Amino acid sequence: MSGKGYRVLSVPSHFEYEDIRSRLEKPGFWKEISVLETVDSTNTYLLNRADSGVTSAIAVADAQISGRGRMGRRWHSPPGKNIYMSMLVPLRVPPAKAPVITIVAGLSVASVLWEDLGIDCRVKWPNDVYLGGKKVCGILSDMVAELDATRCVIIGIGINVNSDSRDFPGEFRERVISLKEFSGKDIMRVDLLCSIIDRLMGNLERFARDGFEVFLDEWNRYSYLKGKTVIVDTGEGEVRGEVKGIHPERGYMMVESPDGKSVEVVSGRVRETGEN
Ligand code: BTN
Repeated sequence: MSGKGYRVLSVPSHFEYEDIRSRLEKPGFWKEISVLETVDSTNTYLLNRADSGVTSAIAVADAQISGRGRMGRRWHSPPGKNIYMSMLVPLRVPPAKAPVITIVAGLSVASVLWEDLGIDCRVKWPNDVYLGGKKVCGILSDMVAELDATRCVIIGIGINVNSDSRDFPGEFRERVISLKEFSGKDIMRVDLLCSIIDRLMGNLERFARDGFEVFLDEWNRYSYLKGKTVIVDTGEGEVRGEVKGIHPERGYMMVESPDGKSVEVVSGRVRETGEN
């Protein structure tokens, strides 16, 4: 492991508003920064704020009672140890391109973990972050849409920072990992949180200006699945083949089937076959 690391003098078990505000690069950009002890879900909280007309906001919680995962699943949110954060950002994107936002978010997390902490993780399409074959971070985006484009996006990020596998129900323990379990060190959540917010904001500005194509090198660098043989359950059937890359505008996963055909996978559950 390399990287600049963070202070590990003490690890407070709660977030504080001033602590977060003072570390952000552009605190004035955010109309609201909500630091919550417990919330149902930080994404749901910001959906309500967007309904009330707020256009830029951050919500951070020490615990979530009904943390939401992808595909209607639950996100287990043990109190005081991990990061549960959502960002509400005014971003106009046509619906077909909206899925790449979560990919940009995954790359933002992966690059901060590598550059700041020297932790070399991988992004598993579409937007999980993996460490040594186990999930360390999940991302869920909600779109506040108008007819032809999003008006705002809410990007929710959950990172297992200082949790222990025993904080999770039995069936998850083998599949999740925390940064602390990986590195053997307590990690200062607020430093990591603010680095990720700043990096993601910078990357969203870059995406709005230059499109997704400029992130392809980074995707190749951090990709967990590239070159692996996978089976994707798309909901309408299974696609099997080798992952070749990602669509340069829409973020679809490009899979080459055994007969050499290229298939674009828009969404689905991915499993590795273990062949390569
Ligand atoms: C997944 O991998 O299924 C996505 C998990 C996303 C979890 C985060 S935690 C902060 C935000 N609030 C939620 O309710 N979910 C996201």
